[in-house]
Amino acid sequence: MSELPNRSERPRVLSGMRPTGKLHLGNYMGALANWVKLQNDEAANYECYFFIADWHALTTDYADPGRLQSKTIDVALDWLAAGLNPNKSTIFIQSHVPQHAELHLLFSMMTPLGWLERVPTYKEQQENLKGKDLSTYGFLGYPLLQAADILAYQAQYVPVGRDQVAHVELTREVARRFNSMYRTEIFPEPEALLTPSPKLPGTDGRKMSKSYSNTIGLTEDAVTVARKLGAMSTNGQRIRQTDAGDPDQCPVGDLHKIFTPEVELAQILKDCRSAKSSCQGCKLVAAISISDLTQPILERREELDKNRSHLWDMLREQSERAAARAELTMRDVRDILGTSRDLGKLEADISFTGDIGLGYSLAEYSGIFGLSPVVRALKIRAIWIELLSNEGISLSQVGNFANFMPERELEEPFITPRKKRIFVTTQSITGDDDTFSFKVPQKSYEVWALLCWDKKTFFLSDFVIPQKFYSQQFSQARKTLSNDERVVVTIRKEGSRDLMNLGTSEPIDVTSLLGNYDPLN
Ligand code: TRP
Repeated sequence: MSELPNRSERPRVLSGMRPTGKLHLGNYMGALANWVKLQNDEAANYECYFFIADWHALTTDYADPGRLQSKTIDVALDWLAAGLNPNKSTIFIQSHVPQHAELHLLFSMMTPLGWLERVPTYKEQQENLKGKDLSTYGFLGYPLLQAADILAYQAQYVPVGRDQVAHVELTREVARRFNSMYRTEIFPEPEALLTPSPKLPGTDGRKMSKSYSNTIGLTEDAVTVARKLGAMSTNGQRIRQTDAGDPDQCPVGDLHKIFTPEVELAQILKDCRSAKSSCQGCKLVAAISISDLTQPILERREELDKNRSHLWDMLREQSERAAARAELTMRDVRDILGTSRDLGKLEADISFTGDIGLGYSLAEYSGIFGLSPVVRALKIRAIWIELLSNEGISLSQVGNFANFMPERELEEPFITPRKKRIFVTTQSITGDDDTFSFKVPQKSYEVWALLCWDKKTFFLSDFVIPQKFYSQQFSQARKTLSNDERVVVTIRKEGSRDLMNLGTSEPIDVTSLLGNYDPLN
């Protein structure tokens, strides 16, 4: 797992589906078709993750896992046949990415029971699925596992149906709680992208659903589709074929509105209202409209199904890709919760090199890239304070920052055992420019510690500057500013010297102050 992907700035979309076997038209119209559209939306350029939620399936079907894997394959075949493309989206299996489970476990530590008990689907599903014993730990945690699915990728958008909105809402609460509890910003609060779902009736007129056995498959052959449509009830419309009908009251009419091309649709609805058509003919046209959509999908599915080992290899590879992205998130999470796998944070590698100067490598802490600038600044300071304490210098902070006020906290001085006040601040450069630019509040500190770090080399150069070096120019600079403005202080290398600038006056040579901690004693 040494090669981790770069974090990209593309907005991330994530969604999942439980493996219920071959998909039906309701699954397609209510989710899959919309996913394909998001994947292909070139303007939005989403980074898409779609996965088969096999662990979620086990929360309700743990007693009967026999066909789980083949259902997973059935779903994957339908997805690819319908246009999800592994070159554009990451398409994977939840259980192949253990990061989901780890994050779920960690979230379980801090999620109040009441949050889960109050999710509406919890009691509803227990009622609906009476045949299964759902008074289990895993079933209560269903929405929390979903939160982990989403947040493992720091996804911003979650395309789902209305029934999933409560789960996305819980995810937002979990993200918020984590961020505020650990004073971080690593988790965005994801938004549900509601899939526009027209009324799609099953063959009995009720909502199409596997549990009603009223489905029309996404990849059923044309003859079966025609037979199923032929047997549909018209909801009491046109009992005698000489009666005029109301297509708005008929489930076959609803199917026409979804699947029949506009040019034919108007005529069909008219012929129903005027009793000109026969119901059998009308149903056949609806069946053909559906098959026009599904036949090419069926054909692609049959092609893909010829090489299942190829399909499986693809899913495994895609799952590894997903895991690499989730791992980026998990590194930050583990750092925060003290379960990091490297000791780097505690035993920082202190390196001395002649070229770059005296300083520290921050390479161990690449996780800080995921943080917002303010939080990252706090973290870099904390690292520096820890490095100092390894050298026997202990700085403490007096303020109590239980509330999340990073800006205030950044101004609060650190105090030496001898009660000197130290202002510690940090800036990065990207390597394109070699000037570090700090903003110092107009307050009196006995020492400034200016931490310069280079985003490319991870190198941290620390200048510890006693008041006598800057007091004159500082009060000079203050005169030109209003009270709440900051004094801009820059540090830049010139040849072998490090020069500090305040305002427009002469640069001050601070070369000898790099890594020199005498002012802290
Ligand atoms: N619970 C979702 C459903 O039943 C499936 C799911 C699991 C999901 N994890 C997810 C959907 C994460 C979106 C995001 O449809």
